[in-house]
Amino acid sequence: MQPLKYYIRTWGCQMNEHDSERYSGMFNQMGYLEVSKIKDADIVLFNTCCVRENAERKVLGNIGRLKHFRKKKPNLIIIVAGCMMQQPHVIEIINKDLSFVNLILGTYNIHRFPQLLEKALKENHSKRPLVEVWDQAKNVVEGIPSIRKFKFKAFVNIMYGCNNFCSYCIVPYTRGRERSRSKEAILEEISTLVKEGVIEVTLLGQNVNSYGKDLYDEYDFSDLLEEIDKLDGIKRIRFMTSHPKDATEKLIDTIAASKNICENFHLPVQSRSNRILEKMNRHYSREQYLEFAEKLYEKIPNITLSTDIIIGFPDESDSDFHETLSLAKKVAFDNAYVFLYSKRSGTKAAESTCQIPENVKHERFDKILSELNSIAYSKNLGMIGNIETVLVDGISDKHPGSIHGRTRGNKIVTFKGDSSLIGTIVPVRIIDARRATLIGELC
Ligand code: SAH
Ligand code: SF4
Ligand code: F3S
Repeated sequence: MQPLKYYIRTWGCQMNEHDSERYSGMFNQMGYLEVSKIKDADIVLFNTCCVRENAERKVLGNIGRLKHFRKKKPNLIIIVAGCMMQQPHVIEIINKDLSFVNLILGTYNIHRFPQLLEKALKENHSKRPLVEVWDQAKNVVEGIPSIRKFKFKAFVNIMYGCNNFCSYCIVPYTRGRERSRSKEAILEEISTLVKEGVIEVTLLGQNVNSYGKDLYDEYDFSDLLEEIDKLDGIKRIRFMTSHPKDATEKLIDTIAASKNICENFHLPVQSRSNRILEKMNRHYSREQYLEFAEKLYEKIPNITLSTDIIIGFPDESDSDFHETLSLAKKVAFDNAYVFLYSKRSGTKAAESTCQIPENVKHERFDKILSELNSIAYSKNLGMIGNIETVLVDGISDKHPGSIHGRTRGNKIVTFKGDSSLIGTIVPVRIIDARRATLIGELC
């Protein structure tokens, strides 16, 4: 008998991407085969995100479209998983309007997937989805297999969940409280990955700076980084995301003294107005943020800095917005992800009666984006002439005969070369710059 074929589509952050790699691992262990086109699949899994409303809308639209697909393929199994499923109102919508879905599972019970899939396959013809969503994590489950997208770089979770309850954010409700993995489990996983050929790891957590606080009295994120840096064979270490309130000078010193930790820091600022930062429940002031950024630039001169910014948070006045706009000039981010505030039910900010009209949000959004873009472009222009080490990760679709990769500072570089270089680190001279990418030539 032919093995059943599965197709996975993922929305959301790296945490979700890595969860999808685990779903692949479990599917493969059960003998199923991954396909890259949905039309070839017998089983479709959507791993969902609900951080902003448009993410959620897109997912619901995509689930809706599967109905026609199912008509052509009556035995198609449809699974929806991930953050969106942790919200009771979403389960209600699916049960009511999208009840052709076969299986729903949440973020805390991924390890239960093989048993649940088996059950769903048996109950293929029942009229209602099989739902298993836990309302909290029971413990950290180790040993779930992963099929990683790349052979030479990998995501490694160091912790799950978030304790911060930023007033706009749904993540603490979908991913629960902070749970750190033991340092032994992390180091062992990375050592195994290195033996399998991985040279770059990205350590994942919603707030990596609070790693270990739930497990250890003395051992913190910097200590973990230091140990990973010493592992034989590892060439590049990245991490995300850092919360400014827990970013320490010890962390900067650890990066500066290390060999393999990449000179790139993603430090979401969200706003520069102290009034708004307080309403966001961020627990730092713009002065503290700027001081930390200054120290980073001072101690690690070639560091690249990226950030997240929310525009149109409830009650954001014109002058609050101009504060944030001026931050863009002051800090000179290499990259910034700007989001329109999106009301998430269940969060504190959603209750505010001072929501900002959509047109005002969009106006502010366009203004700050053009500012940030021109700064990022001028920083890229400043790199022309540099020789950068680039980890090649793929063939360029846009430029035939070219490949692309990332610098230690996480800039994308495109240059002439062939696929035999994929997975290797090569020296590249930067010869031109765009806003979001660099153009280079092999040295
Ligand atoms: N834990 C990380 C990232 C979480 S989500 C951190 O704290 O930095 C990634 C980004 O999405 C956030 O940094 C924030 O800028 C944005 N975001 C989260 N909730 C949002 C909302 N309700 N509306 C708009 N943007 C939001
Ligand atoms: Fe959300 Fe804040 Fe936690 Fe990040 S730190 S996941 S923005 S609550
Ligand atoms: Fe989205 Fe969940 Fe990540 S809400 S951003 S997939 S933690």
